[in-house]
Amino acid sequence: MAIREILTDQDPALHKKCHSITQFDQKLGDLIDDMRETLEDAGGAGLAAPQVGILRRVVVLYDGEDELLELVNPELIQEEGEQDGLEGCLSVPGLWGYVKRPERVRVKAQDRRGNWFETGGEGVVARCFCHEIEHLDGHVFTEHVDRIYNNEEIEEILEREGRKGK
Ligand code: NI
Repeated sequence: MAIREILTDQDPALHKKCHSITQFDQKLGDLIDDMRETLEDAGGAGLAAPQVGILRRVVVLYDGEDELLELVNPELIQEEGEQDGLEGCLSVPGLWGYVKRPERVRVKAQDRRGNWFETGGEGVVARCFCHEIEHLDGHVFTEHVDRIYNNEEIEEILEREGRKGK
């Protein structure tokens, strides 16, 4: 296993549509293991393969129980409600913005062996599913925000509001 470099959104890899996984082999297992290690090291809520320069449909993210989920070829299959909350991204370090997302989502995905399963979440977890899955189509949260806040500005806002999203 190895920690991979996380690319910033200046990199063209962050703006391309990723290919589906068709080979459920050791190479995929190694990528997922490296993504897990990279996310744990970076301390974010989720990580998509294009963020480490691999244009494949693979995501790792923390669910509502703080379990690290592995999603291969994930698809949103149900969206309910709406929330407006603060979002950041490991590829957009130090910058934040408010993004509207569904309050609850259901997702289907394959595991590293190719078995399909369903999962989902609400609140910040639903936000994370949407954020990571849209990375696979070359989208970054900053496309949805009216304005970007830096760390200092966001700390002031959070002190006022007394809450923080991911
Ligand atoms: Ni991101």
